[in-house]
Amino acid sequence: MERVAPTVGRRALLARRGLLIIVAVTLVTGVLAGLARLGVLVGWGPRYLVDHGPLLVLGGFGTVIALERAVALGRGWGLAAPALGAAGAVAMLAGFADGRWLTVAALVALVALNAAIVRRQPATFTWLMLLGTVVLAYGALRWARGAPPFQIVATWIAYFVLTIVAERLELSRLAPTPRWAARALLVLAVLLAAVAIAVADWPALSRALGPVLALIAVWQLRFDLARRLVRRAGLPAFAATGVLAGAAWLLATGVFLAAVVLPPAGPTYDAALHGVFIGYVLSMVFAHAPIILPAVARLDVRFTPALYAPLALLHLGLVARVAGDLGAWHGLRRSGAIGSALALALFAATAVATRWLARPAPATVARESRPT
Ligand code: HEM
Repeated sequence: MERVAPTVGRRALLARRGLLIIVAVTLVTGVLAGLARLGVLVGWGPRYLVDHGPLLVLGGFGTVIALERAVALGRGWGLAAPALGAAGAVAMLAGFADGRWLTVAALVALVALNAAIVRRQPATFTWLMLLGTVVLAYGALRWARGAPPFQIVATWIAYFVLTIVAERLELSRLAPTPRWAARALLVLAVLLAAVAIAVADWPALSRALGPVLALIAVWQLRFDLARRLVRRAGLPAFAATGVLAGAAWLLATGVFLAAVVLPPAGPTYDAALHGVFIGYVLSMVFAHAPIILPAVARLDVRFTPALYAPLALLHLGLVARVAGDLGAWHGLRRSGAIGSALALALFAATAVATRWLARPAPATVARESRPT
C-alpha cells in the first residue's frame, strides 16, 4: 500500500537535500569524535571530542527526524525545524557555543510541528512523537544552559525510543494491536518521559530507566509487525531483521541498567549508552533508511542482500565493544567501535551504489510516496 503526499517541486527537493548534506557532515564528525574518545585519531574528529553526543543526537539525527516530520506535515513552515536544526549543527561544527540556542529553537519548532500533526491526526503514534519531542526540547534547554551530556542523556534515550516506537506503530497500522496493548504502551511511554525529565540523581536515574526500557522492548518484540515480516523476502525481511535486533539490544540494555549502578562515564556507561544508541537506534536507522530516504529526498535505496553485511557488522562490532567494556579489554572495545564506524560507512556506500542500479526518477516534478 502507498501513502501519497502532495507533489514536491525542484527547489523544495534541493532544500531537503542540502539539509541532508549538513546532516551527513555532522554525523561523520560525530562518529570521528567518538573514535577519538577511544584514542583512534582520524581526520578532524579529535577537535570535537566533547561534542560527540550532541553532534550525533541533536545536530544529526535530531535534524533528519525533524525533516521527516516536516515532510509528513506537508506545510512550508514545518521546514523551520530542520533548517534551525541544521543551523545549530553548523554552529556546533564552527565551535560557536551560543549556537546551542539555535538547537533549542529548532526543537521548539519541532514541538509546534508535532502538535500540528496531532491536531490533524490524533492517534497514539502522533502523541508519542509529540511527547518524545517535548522531552528532547527540555533536555536541549538544560544543555544550552550548561548541563553536561551525562545529566541529560536520559532525555536523548527517551526521545529516540519514543520516536522509534511511534514510527513502528505508524508503519504497523495495517496490523492493529489489541486495545490493552496500545494502552500499556502509552503508560510505558509516559513513564519513560517522566523518568527522563523528573529523576535527576544519576544512579537512581539509570535504575529507573532500565525496567521501563526493558518493558518497551518486550512490547516491541511481542507486537511489532516485524515479527511477521521477518519471514518474508527482500526489503520487508531486511527491515524486520533490523527492528528485531534493535529491540533485542534495548531489552538487554534495559536489564543491564536495572542490574548495575551506572557511573556517569567509563566503560560500563559506554556499554549501556551504546547498547541503546548503536544497538537500538542505528539498527532502526539501517532498517528504515530504504523507506524514509525515498520519501524525504527522492533518494532511492534499492534493496540488495548486500545490505545485510553492514547490519551484521554493526551488531558484531557492538558485541565486541560491550564485551571489551565489561571485560576491561580496551583493544576489543576499540576494535568493536571501529567495526561499528565501518558498518556505517559500508551502509552508506551500499546505499549509494544501489542508486546507480535504480531506475531514474522524473527530473522536474516528483511525487512523495512512502510504502507502508
Ligand atoms: C562508532 C560509533 C561510536 C563511537 C566510536 C562512540 C564512542 C563513544 C565514547 C568512547 C564515548 C565515551 C564513553 C565513556 O564515558 O567512556 C561515547 C559517549 C557517548 N556517545 Fe558514542 N560512540 C559512537 C556512536 C554513538 C552514536 C550513534 C550515538 C548516538 C546516536 C552516540 C552517543 C553518545 C553519547 C550521548 C555519549 C555520552 C556523551 C557524554 O557523556 O559526554 N554514540 N561515545
